Amino acid sequence: MAKRNEKGSLFLVAALAAVIFVLAAQATPAVAVGYTDGDKVQKVVYEEVMNVKEKAAGFIRLAFHDCFVRGCDASVLLLETPTNPAGQTEKDSGFNGGLRGMEVIDIIRNRLLANGTKISCADAVVFAAREAANILSNGNIKYPVDGPGRKDGVVSSVDDPPKFLPTPSFTFKQLADSFGVFKFSVTDLVALSTAHGIGVFHQTPIMSSNVSKTASTYALAVAEEASTSTNGAGVKINVRDMGEKARNISRYRPDGVNMTAVGVLDNSYCNANLQNMVPFDSDFELTKNGTALKLLNDYKMDAKLWKTDFEAAMTKLSNTLKAVGPLFEEGYRVKCNATNYDSYPRPK
Ligand code: HEM
Repeated sequence: MAKRNEKGSLFLVAALAAVIFVLAAQATPAVAVGYTDGDKVQKVVYEEVMNVKEKAAGFIRLAFHDCFVRGCDASVLLLETPTNPAGQTEKDSGFNGGLRGMEVIDIIRNRLLANGTKISCADAVVFAAREAANILSNGNIKYPVDGPGRKDGVVSSVDDPPKFLPTPSFTFKQLADSFGVFKFSVTDLVALSTAHGIGVFHQTPIMSSNVSKTASTYALAVAEEASTSTNGAGVKINVRDMGEKARNISRYRPDGVNMTAVGVLDNSYCNANLQNMVPFDSDFELTKNGTALKLLNDYKMDAKLWKTDFEAAMTKLSNTLKAVGPLFEEGYRVKCNATNYDSYPRPK
């Protein structure tokens, strides 16, 4: 009898193990073949982004600007299309001023192609953003992305970015609404806005329209930084990362932020925002909504929570915003800044 019971429980354990195995397999994050850690595609993208580490922040912004407009379809890279002449595509919109890293997307694809792997331009944009976040966070940020397999678009209009991208002067409601269009929550909005802990900005007018809300010492610090910026290099968005003189002028309080982590993507944006030391109204507006303000405080105190939410929001940005049709490139674009043909749909 005891033996039968033993056999029975062994069977039960085996059955439970099988169920757990199947469930675990189903719960595996959606990292498609070709883009798992250690995979050859990931390695190439990582190396190419690392080669231009100084402009890596640009890839994260590039993915946001591509995916919010017609989905992740690399439409932001097109110089002209069959229906929009040069000067009239997305990248010509003022919303896309200062975009960096576009030329690296073809470099990534060509290197992969030479190794026999084809990915779309849209994949390369999303993958480059992922590696940039990983590199700039010193390996801390790692999130799964689907692909390869994103479609390359054949439509790109200068009129589209203003319809979908938020402006630096947006109120909280406008920000929440513009993210809500894509089913992005207030948590997604705040988590993604923390990307303003890295990179640079150029448009000083945005600062001046914001000046009454911004700490006056921060405005002076930006002026100091701008005076030392050469060749249009821009001003560091994160006050922590400014030169010592500017930072002293700002009277920024570290409040637990690692001051030696200059240029690192971490939760330090929250501390800066809570001191009104951010360049855009759209950042400052996050402090005016109860839920968003709580998130800023929570992220400031809890770097792990910030990491979890930032990673989740980046995965959502990369995976859920599918290219908007009905017309796409057949296969992949040959060169990322040009459509393959001069008319679509292709004659049968
Ligand atoms: C919520 C509304 C947002 C507004 C109004 C906004 C606006 C801007 C502006 C005006 C710049 C400066 C561009 C320049 O002068 O070169 C900038 C930079 C940047 N933004 Fe945003 N942004 C927003 C959200 C986001 C999101 C969601 C992300 C990432 C997912 C992001 C990532 C970045 C990065 C990384 C930079 C620095 C780029 C570089 O150094 O090249 N932004 N943003």
